[in-house]
Amino acid sequence: MNYNVITCIQPTKPMKAITYNKYGGTSQLKLTEVERPTPNDDEVLIKTKAAGVNDWDWGLVHGKPLLIRMMFGLFKPKKAKILGCDVAGIVEEVGINIKNLKVGDRVFGDLSGGNFGGFAEFTRAKEKELAIIPENMSFEEAAALPHAGVLAYQAFFDYLQLQPGHTVLINGAGGGVGTIGIPILKHLGVKVTGVDSSQKLDLMKSLGADEVLDYKQQDFSRLGKKWDLVIDNKVFRKASAYKRSLKKDGVLVMVGGSTLKVFLFAAFGSIISPNKKLKLLMHKPNKGIDKLIEFYNQGIFKPFVGNTFPLEKTPEAIEQLGKGKTMGKTVVVING
Ligand SMILES: NC(=O)c1ccc[n+]([C@@H]2O[C@H](COP(=O)([O-])OP(=O)(O)OC[C@H]3O[C@@H](n4cnc5c(N)ncnc54)[C@H](OP(=O)(O)O)[C@@H]3O)[C@@H](O)[C@H]2O)c1
Repeated sequence: MNYNVITCIQPTKPMKAITYNKYGGTSQLKLTEVERPTPNDDEVLIKTKAAGVNDWDWGLVHGKPLLIRMMFGLFKPKKAKILGCDVAGIVEEVGINIKNLKVGDRVFGDLSGGNFGGFAEFTRAKEKELAIIPENMSFEEAAALPHAGVLAYQAFFDYLQLQPGHTVLINGAGGGVGTIGIPILKHLGVKVTGVDSSQKLDLMKSLGADEVLDYKQQDFSRLGKKWDLVIDNKVFRKASAYKRSLKKDGVLVMVGGSTLKVFLFAAFGSIISPNKKLKLLMHKPNKGIDKLIEFYNQGIFKPFVGNTFPLEKTPEAIEQLGKGKTMGKTVVVING
C-alpha cells in the first residue's frame, strides 16, 4: 500500500501525523502534514517516539460500536482526529503551570481520557496523564504499557483480594492485558489459565501460564472447571457459562467484548447471579501505573512488543490488531 504525504495549508510549525476525517476503516487514514499542537498551560508538548495500538484505534476508525460515535462524533469523527492513546516520548515544551516535568524528560501515558494524538511526530498531554519512563524501559515498551497494563492492574486488584493459590483465567490472554498480566499474577502466587488462539499458546506458557487453552478448540466454560477470578477480554458467552465457570464467591471481570452483553450483565448481574459477581471494568486511564512501574523495576514483567511499524504504516498496524494477528502489543515507532 502507498500512503502519500498530503500537504495542508502551509502549517507554520509542521509535523507529520496520521489523520482521518471519515469513519470507514483503515483506508481512511492518511499520512498528512498538519500544524504541531501548542500545549495549554497545564500541558506539555511531547516529541513522540512510540505509540501503542489499541482496540480504541480499530473502533474509532470504523466508528463502531455505536457508543463510539456517541462519544466521538455521530456522522464523522469530531474528537480525536489523530488516533493513538498510548504515548511515549520526550518532553519538548512545558506549559506555565507544569510543576513536575521538564524539557528532556522521557515520559509515557494513556491519553484515552483526553486528546489521543499518539500517531504523530508531536502530541500534547496533561501532566497528570504522564509518568516518567523507568530508566531501563525502551520507548517501544513504554508505549505498550499504559492502556493494557492498567486494564490488567484494575482487573486484578479492584474486585477481589487475590491470595496465593487462587485460580485466575484470562480469556484473550495473548494480547496486551494478558502478556502484561500473566507474570504479575504468577508473582502473586496465583495459578493462571490463559486462553487465546493457537499461535499464542507458547507465548502465554513462556510468560508463566500454568495452563493454556486454544479457544477455537476448547470452550473453557465446558471443561467442568471453576476459577476464583475470570477476566474476559472478549465477552461473548451467556451468563450461565460464567456462572458454571466461577467458584462460589468467584468474580467475573468483563474487560471487553460484545457491548450489549457486557452492559446487560453489568445491569442485571446481581439478579442473574446473586452469589457469583459479574463485574464490568470501567477503565480509569493511568490508575495503577505507579504500581506497574514498581513491578517493572522489580523485574516482575516486561511489556511484550510483538511487532513494530513506522508511522507511515500505522494503518497496517491497526489492521493487524483488528484481524487478530498481533502477539502481545503492536507499537508504532516515530521520530526513530
Ligand atoms: N472495560 C473498559 O473500560 C475497556 C477500555 C478499553 C478497552 N477495553 C477492552 O479491553 C480489551 C483489551 O484487551 P487487550 O488489550 O489485551 O486486547 P488485544 O491485545 O486485542 O488482545 C485480545 C486477545 O484476545 C484474543 N481473542 C479474540 N477473540 C477471542 C475469543 N473469542 N476468545 C478468546 N480470545 C480471543 C485475540 O487473539 P486472536 O484475535 O488471535 O484470536 C487477542 O490475542 C479489549 O477487548 C478492549 O476492547 C475495555
